[in-house]
Amino acid sequence: MALATEQPALLAEPAALRARIQAWRSAGEPVALVPTMGCLHAGHLELVRVAARRARHVVVSIFVNPLQFAAGEDLERYPRTLQADLDALAATDCDLVFAPPEAALYPHGREGLTEVHVPELSTRHCGAHRPGHFEGVTTVVNLLFNLVQPDLAVFGEKDYQQLYLIRRMVRDLHLPVEIVGVPTVREADGLAMSSRNRYLSADERARAAAFPRLLDATVARLQQAEAPAQDVLEAGLDALREAGLEPQYLDLVDADFAAAQGRPEGEHILLGAVQVGSARLIDNRVFRIATS
Ligand code: PAJ
Repeated sequence: MALATEQPALLAEPAALRARIQAWRSAGEPVALVPTMGCLHAGHLELVRVAARRARHVVVSIFVNPLQFAAGEDLERYPRTLQADLDALAATDCDLVFAPPEAALYPHGREGLTEVHVPELSTRHCGAHRPGHFEGVTTVVNLLFNLVQPDLAVFGEKDYQQLYLIRRMVRDLHLPVEIVGVPTVREADGLAMSSRNRYLSADERARAAAFPRLLDATVARLQQAEAPAQDVLEAGLDALREAGLEPQYLDLVDADFAAAQGRPEGEHILLGAVQVGSARLIDNRVFRIATS
């Protein structure tokens, strides 16, 4: 069992953050960054553990980034639980928490702010349902990379499209950061852990368990290749509706994120999003379809 240790240092101002990290960098000590929006759960803590295995210092950022919430989304009610987050991080190897107020990160306001935009891919899948979301993500992650200048940064595969977009941003902008992906951490019944699971009532939580199960069933049918992928996906959408979930999309892409056609082969990712009550949940499966 992990022993509770001291809480990590908490910094809110970029200048203080830079000074602290500068000291580590001049000592030649590698730094890992784990960006989060807080309300930490076991999935986030797994990212911190992976980061600590790879770098001498781990910085966790906690910032509910208004740029990545579309109008009418849950920005206002997104859970903010800083003290509980610090308590949870005290049992990990996190050295430093960077939790800036909005004015520290965007001191000149959000209007007219320079943005990082990965075209095309950021408008598909989740991007098609959340206009501007991924621009907000890549903009803030790039900003955090500039402030922390980490050697590596750790992200979860739960947000598979986000992870892929960040890898592309890093590649295209020649950012000197290694991106490490971590498999999704799940509840006992398979539901992916998410800060938004808090929005679920008991009844909605019970229904939500069908989401990962139906993803598995869809993967099995795709692997059996008994019907064209598009038909299997349509049937998957129907099954999600029958389970009382409101699917936003269920898409199959190849390892380069190109939409799968016909009877695909090789490595693929099944991506899905459902609305359950007021919670929007996403999940995915990475799997192989045997070559015939
Ligand atoms: P947030 O939703 O707080 O997630 C922070 C990180 O934790 C992301 O890399 C996400 O993929 C990972 N994560 C969330 N749930 C997980 C789970 N069940 N298993 C493994 N990893 C999980 O994603 C964001 O914040 C923001 O978009 C951010 C990148 C911080 C930019 O604002």
